[in-house]
Amino acid sequence: MQLNKCVSIDDLRRLAHRRLPKPIFDFLEGGADDEWTMRQNIDRFDAYPLMPGTLVDIGEIDMSSNLLGCDIDWPVIAAPTGASALFHHTGEAAVAEAVANSNTFYAMSTMSTQSLEHIGGLNNAPKIFQVYVFRDRGLTEALVERCQAAKYDALCLTVDTPLSGNRERDRRNGLSIPPKWTLKSLSEFAIHPSWSFNAKFRSSFDLANFTGTQHVPVKPGQSAPEYVNSQFDRTLTWDDAAWLAKRWQGPFAIKGIMSVDDARRAVDIGATAVWLSNHGGRQFDGIPATIDCLADIRNAVPDHIELILDGGVRRGTHILKALALGANACAVGRPYLYGLAAAGSPGVAHALEILRSELERGMALLGTPTLADIGHHSLARNPII
Ligand code: FNR
Repeated sequence: MQLNKCVSIDDLRRLAHRRLPKPIFDFLEGGADDEWTMRQNIDRFDAYPLMPGTLVDIGEIDMSSNLLGCDIDWPVIAAPTGASALFHHTGEAAVAEAVANSNTFYAMSTMSTQSLEHIGGLNNAPKIFQVYVFRDRGLTEALVERCQAAKYDALCLTVDTPLSGNRERDRRNGLSIPPKWTLKSLSEFAIHPSWSFNAKFRSSFDLANFTGTQHVPVKPGQSAPEYVNSQFDRTLTWDDAAWLAKRWQGPFAIKGIMSVDDARRAVDIGATAVWLSNHGGRQFDGIPATIDCLADIRNAVPDHIELILDGGVRRGTHILKALALGANACAVGRPYLYGLAAAGSPGVAHALEILRSELERGMALLGTPTLADIGHHSLARNPII
């Protein structure tokens, strides 16, 4: 299948599957434990059927909004995902270019393979930097200062990763970053010569935000799970989140919120946005789909607090359902990574365009020409009991 024959995110997923060696595809795709939460994220959208309004003037569909202080053309963010060069040698720059052309937000991961300065300088499109509060607070502080200097528009603190999830696919595959050319993996690399050539000669798997700084966190030979575990701080509390919100003083999202109590706490410590996420089911299996947590959180936090939802968004109708339940925007991780793996920047652009055009068509068929027209009445059943 060629890129231009892909008409859905699932088509792109199949193409990515073909292009990537198994351990790399599994790292992109996999979730924690039995991957129940990961599947629920997608499946539970089915519990919220839409209800169209007819004979509405839908001559013009306006998907634009203001989010985290920036004007965007449509309400979908490219979620932070680490180590993009694993999926295509052009890495984060390829994603940033496609997202900028789509006039929406790119949320860049701390764990990127290109530096925040490099990505920040590529274009003037809105950007979020995703940060962790590391054991060494100086490391986080330095990242925040660099984001300010590089003029990132917003900061997002991920709080669902005090330690790494149990991703059994990666453990079975013996995944390491950078990938090791072992006898076991050699056959997979051999049947994916294009990926392997680029990985060997054109990719850099450095964690670019740390190279050249005095805080170099990677020990040679460390596996990905070991590395991640060594950096995350199990003693983090709301005080640390409050410290970061104060330190940043701009639009600030907390990512990884699932409960009403945590959403309220996030607002109390100064978050301007609550990012509902279970890390795409990659961290803690057995917790609910994000879409099932949305309505209660919308009810619990003030209207001016922006809600972003990610996890399982694969269709324009999924975005519509999240907006109807009170989200201001959605974010997607795997969908644009499938595009990246399939074809680099054009693949990311294709993934975004699939979602953008599905959303546009969905708004027209729902009879809601602007985002403000979407609400509980857009659902067949009222989710608030
Ligand atoms: C992620 N995610 C993630 N989140 C984060 O805050 N920092 C990170 O570095 C990463 N890295 C990462 C790598 C990969 C390969 C994936 C797939 C995901 C989670 C991401 O931001 C988002 O929450 C999920 O991807 C959303 O779920 P979907 O859209 O993938 O179903």
